[in-house]
Amino acid sequence: MQIRFADSRPTGDYTLVLPVAGKDRSSLSGLGAAQQAVAAALDRQRFEGDASAASEQFIDEGGKVRRLLVVGSGSGSAPKDSAEKLGGTAASKLQTSGEKKAVIDLSGLGYDADAAARVGLGAALRSWRYDRYRTKLKDNQKPTLEEIVVVGGGSGAGKRYEQRWAPVVEGVSLTRELVTEPANIIYPESFVERVRASVKGSGIEVEVLDRPAMEKLGMGALLGVAQGSVREARLLVLKWNGAGKGGQPTAFVGKGVTFDTGGISIKPAAGMEAMKWDMGGAGAVAGALKALALRKAKANIVGICGLVENMPGGNAQRPGDVVTTMSGQTVEVINTDAEGRLVLGDAVTYVQRNFKPSTIIDLATLTGAILISLGHEWAGLFSNNEELAGKLQQAADESGDKLWRMPLAESFDRLIDSPIADMKNVGPREGGSITAAQFIQRFVEDGVRWAHIDMAGKAWSDKAGATYEKGATGFGVRLLDQYVEDVLER
Ligand code: BES
Ligand code: MN
Ligand code: ZN
Repeated sequence: MQIRFADSRPTGDYTLVLPVAGKDRSSLSGLGAAQQAVAAALDRQRFEGDASAASEQFIDEGGKVRRLLVVGSGSGSAPKDSAEKLGGTAASKLQTSGEKKAVIDLSGLGYDADAAARVGLGAALRSWRYDRYRTKLKDNQKPTLEEIVVVGGGSGAGKRYEQRWAPVVEGVSLTRELVTEPANIIYPESFVERVRASVKGSGIEVEVLDRPAMEKLGMGALLGVAQGSVREARLLVLKWNGAGKGGQPTAFVGKGVTFDTGGISIKPAAGMEAMKWDMGGAGAVAGALKALALRKAKANIVGICGLVENMPGGNAQRPGDVVTTMSGQTVEVINTDAEGRLVLGDAVTYVQRNFKPSTIIDLATLTGAILISLGHEWAGLFSNNEELAGKLQQAADESGDKLWRMPLAESFDRLIDSPIADMKNVGPREGGSITAAQFIQRFVEDGVRWAHIDMAGKAWSDKAGATYEKGATGFGVRLLDQYVEDVLER
């Protein structure tokens, strides 16, 4: 589906999308003779113009029928939120409607260029789908919408969309694709190749470490997780140097467990298929780097994806095994299902040793416990630095990728002391997301600002949202993109 911007409504056949801001129906005045009937129909449907509300109608235009979609744009909410919802609602209502073209006429709303561009953003994000394996879709299930034209958004909306938001759509789409693909298709090696192909020509530098390279570096924790699988581990390094030489980079580190069976501490069968998306953090890192490169962000970013498959093979690590990490610290692996932190510990050490980042932000579908704490609305935010936490919170509010701050404390750190090694990989059940974060913090070197985002409740959604269909959400891409704009590009 294409998003276009134009100064006025085109001629010919299309579905007209008219936003109505709450109870103020002045935007319907352009309908001429049909206006009264449309307004009456809205009353009969108890349509009150709330954001995401929609009313589908057909109007007579001199003997021809035109489809009309009246979409609520809310009255109270900030234009940027309602703009994305508006675009998303239009796209979801029309995508499989049989219509090919829709025109969203914003003239009645007084949106600025960015708000108008965000209508396009919402529409593009909401219409993403992945039909590769659906060979028997019925005709009326197939998408028909080919083009959405946004008009009346003022000059500059099209340019704003192309420069600021189209790259984000590309990044989110890559993340969703990686997350959606099953684990027989996306495993460490193929994750690397899929990303490599997707960022080709973007200016991103790609570096890949294979098993021997990681053995040489002593990444015993990451490799310990991978050793039960016939799929070999990879460490994917993506570099975007948009700010030129000099200065310490910011690092994004993603958990990329392409499938998490739990290993020898195997998970129950019910719902295990969900663990194909246990690489959502790594997917977000790859998508964010792509978005930043496409919009030529003036920032130096290194993205690290720790890629492994956690399987219970004959060579799998056992509960009680002690592994030596790249940092030199040793870990007693009590539970092989607490594998994400093992992968992240080595990935965090690697990025510090090789890139000396001032700031590390890691993203991981790390614990079931974060779902118990925060449900599916918020991801958990842990940080050793108030300013960093504040900026991430701000980026979360602006992007819609919501974060809720969680505590870190010495008393939690003590819970992962081990009698035989420097630490164990699990603490007690209580505070499970916090001890997991404490574990990662043990790999963060002095003076490095660090934040950890536990997004186990966010990578996948069982119901559709304003800007995503049910399934992979692309969580994290917009958060990181917004953080870079707010903090590194000022
Ligand atoms: N990938 C899981 C976390 C997860 C669970 C994500 C459910 C999404 C939904 C992680 O590797 C894991 O298995 N964590 C364990 C840790 C436990 C063994 C300390 C968990 O949360 O149960
Ligand atoms: Mn696990
Ligand atoms: Zn996992």
